[in-house]
Amino acid sequence: MSFLNLQEISKSFGGFVAVDQFNLEVDKGEFVSLLGPSGCGKTTTLQMIAGFLDPSHGQIMVGGEDLTARPANQRNIGIVFQSYALFPHLTAAQNVAFGLEMRKATQGERQEKIDRALDLVHLSAFRDRYPKQLSGGQQQRVALARAIVIEPTILLLDEPMSNLDAKLREDMQLELRSIQEKLGITTILVTHDQNEAMALSDRIAVMNEGRIVQVGKPHEIYEDPANVFVSSFLGKNNLLAVEVEDISGSKASVRFNGQSLTVPCREGVTNKEAWLSIRPEKVQLTDKGSGLLEGQIKTRVFFGNHWLYQIETASGEFLVYSQNTAVPNTAPRDAVGLNWQADDARLLNMDAS
Ligand SMILES: Nc1ncnc2c1ncn2[C@@H]1O[C@H](COP(=O)(O)OP(=O)(O)OP(=O)(O)O)[C@@H](O)[C@H]1O
Ligand SMILES: [Mg+2]
Repeated sequence: MSFLNLQEISKSFGGFVAVDQFNLEVDKGEFVSLLGPSGCGKTTTLQMIAGFLDPSHGQIMVGGEDLTARPANQRNIGIVFQSYALFPHLTAAQNVAFGLEMRKATQGERQEKIDRALDLVHLSAFRDRYPKQLSGGQQQRVALARAIVIEPTILLLDEPMSNLDAKLREDMQLELRSIQEKLGITTILVTHDQNEAMALSDRIAVMNEGRIVQVGKPHEIYEDPANVFVSSFLGKNNLLAVEVEDISGSKASVRFNGQSLTVPCREGVTNKEAWLSIRPEKVQLTDKGSGLLEGQIKTRVFFGNHWLYQIETASGEFLVYSQNTAVPNTAPRDAVGLNWQADDARLLNMDAS
């Protein structure tokens, strides 16, 4: 049985449904991200787990116990908010200690726990500094230490890294994952950053408009998105309008540009017109006249490890990522062919369902 079980939880504010029949089972020690656009209900869901908001419907079970009606301070849940919310007049160590003040612990026990938490986030040498004397990344680690010092059964993180610059964010992500694994703590991370969710999570729950759209391992969701919302939210995506000729099981025969192709297809595609979704890194540039599609290079941008091409085709603009293995012999305005493996494409409904 799962450790954390959110059963049909909903939250309405007046007539507005912010979270709608949300179901999620999380195993002990698992790292799950809630990923979705701004306003889709991520923070609201997290606050219901934390006990700061009461669900309008549904149940929150942890370790087989119903926590739905239990006050926040009796749930033993660690939380890190987007704004670090450190007390400016307290040192790093005092901020961490604050989590323990409310709990019954002797002075010695308390000191030991604070030392351990600060050590875990590599801040032992900074224990006596005030927040304003710490960098953004260090403040964020104090907030993390304060959340884990209580040895919580669940760690909730609400966009904890959104204030950090790109390099620091990447370092923190690796550090967070290593601390989480070391402690084996069940963790829910809220983010609207798809790369962060993919890099950190055992599983991702993709949300839209208060509902879960798809739950799965990062790779599964990326390669097999349930619909066009998920495929476009997780990474870049080329969408080619095709005519569906025939569907048989998980394969479909589709027609575009005067040719037929047999491609993987999800259940639920029923219309005559559908999208063929192809990731930019799955497309190869070939000589003019030899592609599944033909186009002209509009722009070419260097990203260090890959080149990004924007290509104009009769079926709309295509994005192509080419690994930087050699200086390319293509230039803007060149006519090129676009090819991909049929199995790398996915057939999806045109509407997001
Ligand atoms: N107290 C409230 N009263 C009324 N509406 C609210 C309240 N709290 C949240 N909402 C609404 O519920 C929806 C979900 O809000 P929520 O904060 O959960 O979004 P989110 O997914 O965390 O977004 P973001 O990525 O911008 O933080 C939003 O439309 C928001 O305006
Ligand atoms: Mg939020």
